[in-house]
Amino acid sequence: MHALAKLARQKSRRIVGLMSGTSADGVDACLVEVTGSGLELGWKVLSVQSVAYPAEVRQAVLEVSEGETGRTDAICTLNFILGEIFAEAALKAIRSAKLRPQQIDLVASHGQTIHHLPESRSIDGYASRSTFQIGETAVIAERVGVPVVGDFRVRDVAAGGVGAPLVPYADRILFQQPTRAVALQNIGGIANVTLLPPAQSGKPLLAFDTGPGNMIIDAVVHDVTLGKQTFDQGGEMARAGAIDHALVERLMDDPFVNRVPPKTAGRENFGREFFRTLTTLSLFGRVKGNDLVATVTQFTARSIAENYRRHVLPYWRPEEIIVCGGGSQNPFMMERLREELPGIPVVPIDERGVPWQAKEALSFAILGNESVCGVPSNVPAVTGASHPVLLGKFVL
Ligand SMILES: Nc1ncnc2c1ncn2[C@@H]1O[C@H](COP(=O)(O)OP(=O)(O)O)[C@@H](O)[C@H]1O
Ligand SMILES: [Mg+2]
Repeated sequence: MHALAKLARQKSRRIVGLMSGTSADGVDACLVEVTGSGLELGWKVLSVQSVAYPAEVRQAVLEVSEGETGRTDAICTLNFILGEIFAEAALKAIRSAKLRPQQIDLVASHGQTIHHLPESRSIDGYASRSTFQIGETAVIAERVGVPVVGDFRVRDVAAGGVGAPLVPYADRILFQQPTRAVALQNIGGIANVTLLPPAQSGKPLLAFDTGPGNMIIDAVVHDVTLGKQTFDQGGEMARAGAIDHALVERLMDDPFVNRVPPKTAGRENFGREFFRTLTTLSLFGRVKGNDLVATVTQFTARSIAENYRRHVLPYWRPEEIIVCGGGSQNPFMMERLREELPGIPVVPIDERGVPWQAKEALSFAILGNESVCGVPSNVPAVTGASHPVLLGKFVL
């Protein structure tokens, strides 16, 4: 406890945030210098690095993430293997800032979600929602040699929330404007929005998952290229294809896309099972190759835009939509979004001072800082938790 008390008293802290999202493409690390906490928090990014999951590790993550193929022995092993990879990403970020691990105060790791069940399930009369992140924090603490905080989502779930999204707290600190509303749109494996009302309005923020991000595109590209590619680099396959609008319309019937917030999605919604349905629908409509990539990219952009039209724009018109995550690197996706949401500038987050790979990792560094300072950082209005809670578990 001594280490934690000392950390809390420091004026500033160097924190490495670690994140791997539902794309399971690899770990993003962001080393940030943080001063203070809460709305007074100051931050400066010192370095950003990523470690891609090797192909077999990615395959293993995808397998344990699916209900049909997840095995406890595989999960047990992978928890520790991912701990090593998360540690490697942290050390890489520290080295690239020309610092030594001893000069770092804390690692804040989101881990890798392998299952997320926001709907309550019951066994013998005991009912609970649940969520499961792996990437053993004890391994990270051993390899990096500094305190680690991880497992942020579970306390919110225990308090009755759905454990997601958690980044809105950080979004507010990073991007809220005094007099303008802005939207943050993350396009990772899943896509999620945070609408920040003008600070002066005193109104609560809105945040929820809009539906798929790159998850369906990645699966289609993997299939179309017979496993040679895992994503549509620069949106080039989509650009070479033609959108099948009839199929987009069918896909827009998706129950998650049409659900009213609060809502949170995962591989359970847009993973293997969704891909099976898509395959049937596309065979029936004879949509294939680049045309299918273009079609699912359009569906992704449409599902985001439709959620804005129904659940954001009736309340707030953001002055701009700041896009982060891998989807911001897909010009075809960005173009489709602009077309779907006319009149609202859609800007990549890099143009607003944060590298696109860093945003989620940076957010978890901020959440880690708040946990050290004893500041609750879930947003109950967003997750549905019954009260604000201190997030994370510490390995000291
Ligand atoms: N240059 C690029 N062009 C197109 N898509 C990209 C590019 N770089 C990354 N992506 C997409 O972004 C995904 C990773 O995004 P990321 O924000 O890391 O998501 P997650 O948080 O789910 O890991 C990749 O799987 C890929 O689909
Ligand atoms: Mg990623």
